[in-house]
Amino acid sequence: MVVVGGFWGDEGKGKIISYLALKDRIDLAARGGVGPNAGHTVCYQGKSFKLRMLPTTFLYEKCRLRLGAGVLVNPKILLDEMRLTNSEGRVGLDPNCAIIEDKHIEADKGSEHLSKKIGTTGTGTGPCNVDRVQRIAKTAKDIPALSRLLVDVSAEVNGAIDGGQNVLLEGTQGTFLSLYHGSYPYCTSKDVTASAICSDVGVGPRKIDEVLVVFKAYVTRVGGGLLPNELPEEEAKRRGWAEIATVTGRARRAAPFNFDLARKAVELNSASQVAVTKLDVVYPECIGVRDYSQLSKEAQRFIERIEATVKIPVTLIGTGPEVDDAIDMRKKSH
Ligand code: IMP
Ligand code: MG
Repeated sequence: MVVVGGFWGDEGKGKIISYLALKDRIDLAARGGVGPNAGHTVCYQGKSFKLRMLPTTFLYEKCRLRLGAGVLVNPKILLDEMRLTNSEGRVGLDPNCAIIEDKHIEADKGSEHLSKKIGTTGTGTGPCNVDRVQRIAKTAKDIPALSRLLVDVSAEVNGAIDGGQNVLLEGTQGTFLSLYHGSYPYCTSKDVTASAICSDVGVGPRKIDEVLVVFKAYVTRVGGGLLPNELPEEEAKRRGWAEIATVTGRARRAAPFNFDLARKAVELNSASQVAVTKLDVVYPECIGVRDYSQLSKEAQRFIERIEATVKIPVTLIGTGPEVDDAIDMRKKSH
């Protein structure tokens, strides 16, 4: 399965992926996507983890955690996260991952165009991808501190799929941040749709069974660029939609759920299933609900309208911050 974001990132992929990891006992997860510009939050048993490099499947202790060759690695962030999650021994990264250095972070933060106009996360990912395209970036095999972690990730992932193991490819950012299909120039520094996530890890399209696209029950974005039907800040606050960004601490801009964008995201990713997160933020009476029949009629109508629009099933619904606050409809249909 490939999991991707359907809007501009921050859809709640971390929550959905950690639910899947525990519920489906994911044997191996490999992250694709850009790099530590991502921020995936996991809340479990009262503890909250904010991950920028490791797959958010770490909660399931038997899951092997991998970073695909396409991902940019900041060694310090990666090693810190391994300590935080106590995951040494089950982490591996591809020798071809490119390395973010201080000069990339300085170039990102110091560029008027990137930091002010585009509103990047300032994590150095864009300038590092520039060096990669120039073929001058360092790669993981050049870094002694990472040598113990190097594995051929594509070989391992393909082998695991062929052996019938449960494999998840974790996307980052969101469909409309794609360099190719997103709101250019207000986007990230590479494609982040499902095909790109597969390519980052080194898996071809014939090996993918399911593509899960994650939508939040409302839309947010950080940084510049168009946000259709954007709410004034006061209104976003009143509705409880004014989030703070995981990586940058900036206020996220907010808008109501966008059905047209959802339809387009399903198309761009060839999605086969939808997850809807934070339903409880839009419909507070739904907080903590774990059975579809217990949702309010209004919330059910919202879910049904999504399904009617995108023409694939909503299989998972998030109803609270904890990993287990979820409705799983993969077996029974409503
Ligand atoms: P960059 O990826 O840091 O170059 O930033 C480019 C644009 O993508 C900016 O608008 C960022 O706010 C946005 N962006 C990048 N990664 C994420 C993410 O994981 N979540 C939300 N927005 C992101
Ligand atoms: Mg995020």
